Formats: sequence, structure tokens, C-alpha cells
Amino acid sequence: MAFQQDTLSVVIGGTGGIGRAVAEALRARPGRVEAVGRAEGVDIAQPDTVSAFFARLGPVDHVVVTAGSQAPGGHFTDVHPAAAKAAFDIKFWGSLAVAREAARAIRPGGTLTLTSGFVARRTVPGTYVKAAMNAAIEAVAKVLARELAPLRVNVVSPGLTDTTAYRDMAPEARAAMLARAAATLPAGRHGRPEDIAQAYLFAIDNPFVTGSVIDVEGGALIN
Ligand SMILES: NC(=O)c1ccc[n+]([C@@H]2O[C@H](COP(=O)([O-])OP(=O)(O)OC[C@H]3O[C@@H](n4cnc5c(N)ncnc54)[C@H](OP(=O)(O)O)[C@@H]3O)[C@@H](O)[C@H]2O)c1
Repeated sequence: MAFQQDTLSVVIGGTGGIGRAVAEALRARPGRVEAVGRAEGVDIAQPDTVSAFFARLGPVDHVVVTAGSQAPGGHFTDVHPAAAKAAFDIKFWGSLAVAREAARAIRPGGTLTLTSGFVARRTVPGTYVKAAMNAAIEAVAKVLARELAPLRVNVVSPGLTDTTAYRDMAPEARAAMLARAAATLPAGRHGRPEDIAQAYLFAIDNPFVTGSVIDVEGGALIN
């Protein structure tokens, strides 16, 4: 569906990182973009705030969810189950809270695009919480793509991308992590938010894409 003056796109998580790059790319097109996070009063872990947001908006065309990057890491026995469940409540159940509203609000021809992450299918010790919640999102998105058809539902799975998610790391540690990725990944670079944003635009634009998981990870899955 071509973008028109009345096209309304929503990016939940669109005020930082990958979501902000998606929102910026969409703002270059006709129509309106609502980019929100907790600072705008939309917390995906609080379904009431999600419902109230969609009630305010009315019908929408494209919904992207990029919120919920935080999850506890470390050896399985060191991760407290309560912290793991809290991360699930945000990213997994939060994405589904958005999907419930989006299923009702999206106009014919629109799309829903969720976000997973490369550790869903690349085995990295110390990441079991992210692995599980991202794999769960990919699995559910495929069911939604069947149940909600002709609404198209897809998932973008980013690789290591330099975003606000890493703002609390010591600058040297962050730089070292990104340099290590660039040195070891087949693509020879770490991800930039704009690299990943292109995949959301592909999912939105291509009318033959649904139930897909789009990997943009510099070759991490073949490494
Ligand atoms: N960056 C990577 O290396 C990487 C790798 C694999 C997968 N991913 C996935 O890609 C997605 C985006 O990651 P990112 O690195 O761009 O994240 P980010 O830099 O941490 O940005 C997160 C955005 O989401 C919002 N947000 C956070 N918690 C929220 C909540 N509970 N409800 C609503 N909005 C919330 C933030 O705004 P507020 O703080 O105002 O809420 C911000 O706009 C995540 O799903 C992440 O798991 C990222």
C-alpha cells in the first residue's frame, strides 16, 4: 500500500536506537509517524497504557515494535528467575499486548512488524533469556501471520547494533564489543540503526512478505 498523506505509522520504541531510525525513515514519506516510548506514557509492560494509546489514535496503517531491549545476562544458574520473567513481561508479553491492539486498529493493507534478535537462533552462552524471548516472538508472529491474515505480520531480527541499549556500558567496553563484532562478523562491521531500519521498511513495503523473520545481523548466523 503506497504511503499517502493520511497514512499513520506507529513505532513503539521509536524514541531511541533502532526504533528511532525506523521512525526517521518513515518520516521521509508522506503521512504521519507516532514514535513513542515510556517517556511518552506508553509502556508495553503496562497493557492499559498501550490500549489507551491505540484508543487515542484510532485506525492506523503500520505498527512497529522495537521496545524492550533489556534482559538479564550471565550463566543460567546466576540469572534470577524473577529477573528473567520481568524481561519476558516487557519484551514478549509487551509485544503481544501491542499486537492485540494492532490487530483491531490496523486498516486493510497495513502491517505489524515485531523485533527479535540474532541470539534466538545463534547459540551464545549467557544469553538464555534473550534467546528464549526472541525465539518466542518469532514463533508467535508466524501464528499471528496466519490468524490475522490478510494483515501481514513479520519479525526483524537484528544483530549487534550500536544503540542506546548499550549507553550504560563503560565507553571502552562498548567500543571493544563493537570492534570485536566488526572484526569477527563476515560483513566486517557492527550494525548501525539505519542498517536495521531498512528491514522494517522492506516488511512494510513488500506485499508478498508475511510470517517472515528478516535477519540483519552481519552474518552472525553463519559465523
Ligand atoms: N541493539 C542491539 O544490539 C540489538 C540486538 C538484537 C536485538 N535487538 C532488539 O532490537 C530492539 C531495539 O533495540 P535497541 O537497541 O534499539 O533498543 P534501545 O536503544 O534500548 O531503544 C529502546 C526504545 O524503546 C523504548 N522502550 C524501552 N522500554 C520500553 C517499554 N517498556 N515500553 C515502551 N517503550 C520502551 C525506549 O524509550 P523509553 O526509554 O522512553 O521507554 C527507546 O525508545 C529490541 O527489541 C532489542 O532486543 C537489539
